[in-house]
Amino acid sequence: MADHRSRLSPASRRPAAYGERYRGQVAVVTGASAGLGAQLCRDLAGAGATVVGLARNRERLHALAAELRATSPGFATVQCDVSDTVALQRTLDDVAAAQGRVDLLVNNAAQDPGVRLADIGEDDFRHTFDVNFFAPVAATLAVMPGMVERGHGTIVNISSDGGRLPSPGPGAYSSSKAALSAFSESTSFRLGPKGVSIHVVYPAFMATELGLSALGRGLRRPPRMTPRSVESVSRRILARAGGPSLEISVSGLIDAAMVFRQVMPRTYHRLRRNW
Ligand SMILES: NC(=O)c1ccc[n+]([C@@H]2O[C@H](COP(=O)([O-])OP(=O)(O)OC[C@H]3O[C@@H](n4cnc5c(N)ncnc54)[C@H](OP(=O)(O)O)[C@@H]3O)[C@@H](O)[C@H]2O)c1
Repeated sequence: MADHRSRLSPASRRPAAYGERYRGQVAVVTGASAGLGAQLCRDLAGAGATVVGLARNRERLHALAAELRATSPGFATVQCDVSDTVALQRTLDDVAAAQGRVDLLVNNAAQDPGVRLADIGEDDFRHTFDVNFFAPVAATLAVMPGMVERGHGTIVNISSDGGRLPSPGPGAYSSSKAALSAFSESTSFRLGPKGVSIHVVYPAFMATELGLSALGRGLRRPPRMTPRSVESVSRRILARAGGPSLEISVSGLIDAAMVFRQVMPRTYHRLRRNW
């Protein structure tokens, strides 16, 4: 996989804008073995949080643990397929029992079935929803009671601009992310007043395995101003999480496209058909 750290823009070398906020917090990050999830683990561990990273790939989890334990002895990994929501909830219960609580949950793990519209089947949709939607729902339901009881907690759901501006294609990934965004917004109304912040993240484009494989399957290359490094997206998330905004969007250009779609829907859809 590409080493995203080697392509840092000057902006992404800025010091973290979240200070001591995460020191002593207990954080769980799903999809920790690669890409954005691994970077969030690095940044949270570096900020003094006790981090537990979940993913399926044992070797990659071991490598991340070896990297982070030198500076963050409490860093732990658990091999877990998040589509097994029973195992996922058990893992979260185990973390809460061992650490006393979960302060921050980042639902980051995702898959894109990568099947063409002509070939996609119902099972592709179901599995995509299992990983991208039902897993975050199950994880949220597992940590929510403890957070509400303590009157404190943060849940970050990594959605996608595909969920709010779907690109041409089979739509399994986009619809699972749209569902995740709606779930996040609905629950935020009730949980916010109880001290629990829910956020939905729109990371634009990152040249990770997931992002590059989408390009490889024909997703149009995003506009020049849209790509972001995992470092800058992680930093933006950690700076905004716990704050008042439901949505954490990293690309003003895509936010502008949302307005364009709203104001000129027919023109937008005509242009989007070929892009
Ligand atoms: N890259 C982009 O351009 C882009 C754009 C918008 C949104 N996003 C979102 O950003 C998030 C991170 O994606 P990324 O680009 O960093 O992708 P990535 O580098 O491909 O990483 C995906 C992570 O998810 C894990 N994962 C996948 N299926 C899993 C499962 N069933 N159980 C547990 N873990 C699983 C993978 O680990 P294992 O294989 O080890 O399980 C890996 O750690 C995702 O929610 C994605 O939808 C990405």
